[in-house]
Amino acid sequence: MSASPPPLSIEKLTKRFDKQVLAVDGLDLVVEEGQVLGLLGPNGAGKTTSLRMILGLIRPQSGRTLVFGEEILPGSPVLQKVGSLVDNPGFVPHLSGLRNLQLWWEAGGRRWAQADLDGALEVADLGTALGRKYRTYSHGMRQRLGLAQAVLGRPRLLILDEPTSGLDPQQMRHIREAVTRMARSGTTVLLSSHLLSEVEEVCTHAAVVDKGRLVTTGSVSDLTGTTRTVYLEVSDLDLARHALSALSGVTAVEDRPPGLLVTLGGAERSEVVAALVHGGVGVETVQARHRLEDAFLELVGDHSP
Ligand SMILES: Nc1ncnc2c1ncn2[C@@H]1O[C@H](COP(=O)(O)OP(=O)(O)OP(=O)(O)O)[C@@H](O)[C@H]1O
Ligand SMILES: [Mg+2]
Repeated sequence: MSASPPPLSIEKLTKRFDKQVLAVDGLDLVVEEGQVLGLLGPNGAGKTTSLRMILGLIRPQSGRTLVFGEEILPGSPVLQKVGSLVDNPGFVPHLSGLRNLQLWWEAGGRRWAQADLDGALEVADLGTALGRKYRTYSHGMRQRLGLAQAVLGRPRLLILDEPTSGLDPQQMRHIREAVTRMARSGTTVLLSSHLLSEVEEVCTHAAVVDKGRLVTTGSVSDLTGTTRTVYLEVSDLDLARHALSALSGVTAVEDRPPGLLVTLGGAERSEVVAALVHGGVGVETVQARHRLEDAFLELVGDHSP
């Protein structure tokens, strides 16, 4: 018996907007059943472009997307198993939130009675505001209505582009809890974010992207759990590099101004510090780092530990 295909598999997906902009550059990614995968990257990394290609909203130059084993083309039937909140949902301002949901659902040729209204209302949590005109909604309420729309069809795969962007902490919490509840009930989720803390909190897996390319990927616990690097600030960088080069159990020493990032291949942090001190190097900062944090901080250019 062959294993069922993963909810999402993208192969060498590439999108070039013009000669200058290679927005997505040969991206490979698999999201397995039950995962909540965070696509993490700075502004302009190619997150939204990737999600649009996955949903068949724009065509890639090359590469392909498989959703539950079926290749995505504009209007592919398998997209009925996918709920998404990417781009503005285009709600009608003078109609109520509820009426907007119904109109959108019926525009897809579906009977309103078959929509999962209870599930959607739980996600939206708009109470009586659901009967109010959409144009009176705050940004957070709009975002929640968008998420409600995404779950109306009981999706097996949910794709969300920066679902908490621009929200206050309480609204962020609401959206994150809704996503977590969906995931617990068996929905596979792919969401983009530029917040490391959000991905660590909500996601089981992460893929870090920059300039359209995959930087690192893995389970969040693998990416954060095993601390195999250490960030150091020292009195003398050259002397430190020299002392570290003599230490077996150190596999790499990289410049990470104003300090150094040391990859440990067996050595303990205390041995590294001892070797430096023994070599006459003053050690000012020692900080354990996680791979996810490293990959991300390097991208966003945060050099403070
Ligand atoms: N329609 C378009 N035409 C031309 N260039 C585009 C278009 N859409 C995106 N780009 C460019 O492609 C690159 C990737 O953009 P994209 O919106 O996918 O990034 P992102 O990771 O979603 O960023 P953000 O975090 O700011 O939302 C950027 O350089 C962007 O300017
Ligand atoms: Mg974007």
